Amino acid sequence: MSRILEGPEGIALGVRRLSEALPVAFPTETVYGLGADALNPDAVAAVFALKRRPASNPLIVHVSGIAMARGVVKMWNDQADAIARAHWPGPVTIVLKKHDSIPGVVCAGGETVAVRCPAHPVALALIEAFGGPIVGPSANPSGRISPTCPEHVADGFSEHDLIVIDGGACHAGIESTVIDLTGDTACILRRGVLGIETLSNTLGGTKVIDRTRDLSQGCDSEPARSPGLIGAHYQPRTPCRLASTDEALGCENARIALIAWSTKEHPASGQIFPLSDSAHEYAAGLYRVMHMADACGADEIWIELPPIGAATEPNERAVFEAVLERLARATQSG
Ligand code: TXA
Ligand code: MG
Repeated sequence: MSRILEGPEGIALGVRRLSEALPVAFPTETVYGLGADALNPDAVAAVFALKRRPASNPLIVHVSGIAMARGVVKMWNDQADAIARAHWPGPVTIVLKKHDSIPGVVCAGGETVAVRCPAHPVALALIEAFGGPIVGPSANPSGRISPTCPEHVADGFSEHDLIVIDGGACHAGIESTVIDLTGDTACILRRGVLGIETLSNTLGGTKVIDRTRDLSQGCDSEPARSPGLIGAHYQPRTPCRLASTDEALGCENARIALIAWSTKEHPASGQIFPLSDSAHEYAAGLYRVMHMADACGADEIWIELPPIGAATEPNERAVFEAVLERLARATQSG
């Protein structure tokens, strides 16, 4: 049985477990993570096993700040420094060449490591109290919907003796933006709530390549630089598809769970899970309603396409684009 523990008690037991090379689930501002000692290959292997994650998909290393980040990479560069100073603690993960002290298993045998400082007091307190970096993939069984509250984690790993430290609901609600700073030109490997324009501005207006355009369509015409970005992911157990607003409004089948932002105009029938039409609130609520729709016993889930055309400012659009990437993969078969 998984156990949800609050505040200081959770952190104290969490630190003990981390020291014993055992996984511990912890909150971040994006989604809950499955933590383990990043410097201990056995602890990291236990996270891969618990999640049933392919060994080819590397993990993010979570740090409490720039000083700790410098210790996990071979060379901390000016671009990394600019992004970290502007946005950490926060939802952006930086990929750089890895330091020799980071075990190969963390990085799926590659030369790079992904580093992030999460903006959640419980996550920061856990890392500080442990005194070193911790890996933190999203705390869901591989391929499933990411967890945005402790109950999602406990449900996902109900058969296991896992400690989940309670930090409430995650306020960003989708995973961090991943930016690769190993080359001359910065590349976005995963979209998130921090948009490409914002990051480009932070880098003094330099060009940032968006490597997710093709990958989000499941197209692998470019070499895979971030293995976790291809194929089905974020998936409910219930069959799931995208729906236009017209289809959503016309949906009268009580066996369909409908996730929709235009619910005010929707006839009350079936199972309706409302979402906000504003980008940040939509993202914050998306995984929560996906978990609820999946648990309601419907035959099918329809997700109304988000109102991306109505987004007025660039970062709202960026958030909806990040959401669309998740929805494309949540509804992809295979
Ligand atoms: O918001 C987040 O990033 C959350 C919270 C818990 O911090 N974590 C998270 O981890 O989403 P995960 O493992 O679910 O996703 C990590 C993504 C994967 O797509 C993986 O392929 C990519 O980051 N990644 C990790 N290390 C990488 C590396 N060295 N190079 C390129 N991509 C990497
Ligand atoms: Mg994940």
